[in-house]
Amino acid sequence: MTACGAAQAGTAPAGAVRFGRAPGAWPLLGHLPHLYARPLAFLGGLAAHGDLVEVRIGGRRAYILCRPDLARQMLADERTFDRVGPVFERIRAAMGNGLATCVHADHVRQRPMLQPAFRQERVRAYAPLMCQEIAGALEGWTDGQVVDVVDEMFSLTTAVAVRTLFSRGLDAESAAALGESLDVFLRGSYTRALFPYVEKLPLPANRRYARALRHWESEVSRIVAERRRAGTHDGTHDGTHDGTHDGTHDGDDLLSALLAARDEQGGALTEQELHDQVAVLVLAGAETTSAVLTWSLHLLAADPEVRAALDAEVDEVLAGRVASFEDLPRLEHTARVVRETLRLLPPAWVLPRTAVRDTELGGRRIPAGSMVVYSPYVVHRRADLHADPDRFLPDRWRRGADGGTGMPRSSFLAFGSGPTRCVGEGFGLTEATLALASVAGRWDLVPVAGRVRTAPRSVLAPRALPMRLLKRPSP
Ligand code: HEM
Repeated sequence: MTACGAAQAGTAPAGAVRFGRAPGAWPLLGHLPHLYARPLAFLGGLAAHGDLVEVRIGGRRAYILCRPDLARQMLADERTFDRVGPVFERIRAAMGNGLATCVHADHVRQRPMLQPAFRQERVRAYAPLMCQEIAGALEGWTDGQVVDVVDEMFSLTTAVAVRTLFSRGLDAESAAALGESLDVFLRGSYTRALFPYVEKLPLPANRRYARALRHWESEVSRIVAERRRAGTHDGTHDGTHDGTHDGTHDGDDLLSALLAARDEQGGALTEQELHDQVAVLVLAGAETTSAVLTWSLHLLAADPEVRAALDAEVDEVLAGRVASFEDLPRLEHTARVVRETLRLLPPAWVLPRTAVRDTELGGRRIPAGSMVVYSPYVVHRRADLHADPDRFLPDRWRRGADGGTGMPRSSFLAFGSGPTRCVGEGFGLTEATLALASVAGRWDLVPVAGRVRTAPRSVLAPRALPMRLLKRPSP
């Protein structure tokens, strides 16, 4: 798929940066039709044309970075490559100005405020809530049933996001309605980013999209207001919400951490900021984690050997129960399956920035206003970085006696890099590993349809993945 020179696999590419232009631009539309209809084939071929490849998105020029050092250089410089431009304006208009969507000037205040909510000990505190949601999802499955794994995993991770944010603050009906609004938004946002004029057309899909957004906003406001009334502003308990029958309490949830967050001057998040952070955290966390789980199950079904190794591990460690945080150190193969899935099919597959001043990358002039895009998908498929790049080989992440994997750290970009690197990495990896191990311990998932097509969404996921559930015998 890639033709990236003769460097030995596993070493970061070095030498002069090659520039190229993507072939096949359409009049007026540029490369938009390719990005919409067959994005992976299009992106996968780009590295053959250079390390920094010019594409056309409608009338605009954009540059795709196909080398990890270029991506890291760009990501290290938030001041020059900022989250501005039409795509981010549209996302902010819809989802607000939260950590994953804000411009650099806001990011320097927001990041240190939110970071503590994602520390390892906080993730440990969220884990029981994750496990309860995983157990609940698995209880709803029956032997022989055909499910769409895309829907199942999305429901699960939305439920986890909502639960870890709001603890017990939501009944099942509200949580489901919130998840549905989010789904409509996520499906609509990629189309709107590529074809902005679509939103001006009087289409039923546009009315659905507007309705979903209104519902999302009013629900989030209601929940935040309820929690404020309950008085857990500083992460302590007020007696009313002091502990629940299931051993978790509101003080463990993400909303409490957000309510307790302070900036350098001791200021708390404003009402609007709080609202926007909640929206963005669900947006950034639920679909990415759902996508990695869905793709893992798809890849496992096609690889009996990797699946057998996974079965052996989960049978030994879990013996049929749902995984808990304490099991993680022993779920090594499961974690490698998750990591390899993130390499092959990274949920955040194209991520744009805009140059806010004239600058250069790899010796190439980048004029102010240019869109510059880094793609973990393109970087992860380079043959000079990953031997056999298109094969699913979780064991490439196996640690040696020295504790290292032998993979160059710089070549894995699934969680980004630099000051905007994913704040929820530990959260997402914990959730994905716990969920995958728990599913695999109890169920075999067998594909029931042929070709799996990629959905045109901002998160890389299949359109649908129908699979039959077969109950595994107790170990
Ligand atoms: C396996 C799952 C996940 C993947 C693959 C993933 C991937 C990413 C990537 C690539 C970025 C950088 C985006 C950029 O450069 O523009 C990012 C940022 C972010 N992610 Fe994740 N993410 C995952 C899970 C989560 C979870 C579970 C949460 C929250 C609960 C989360 C919250 C965020 C936030 C808030 C940012 C913005 C960080 C900042 O700008 O400072 N992510 N994620």
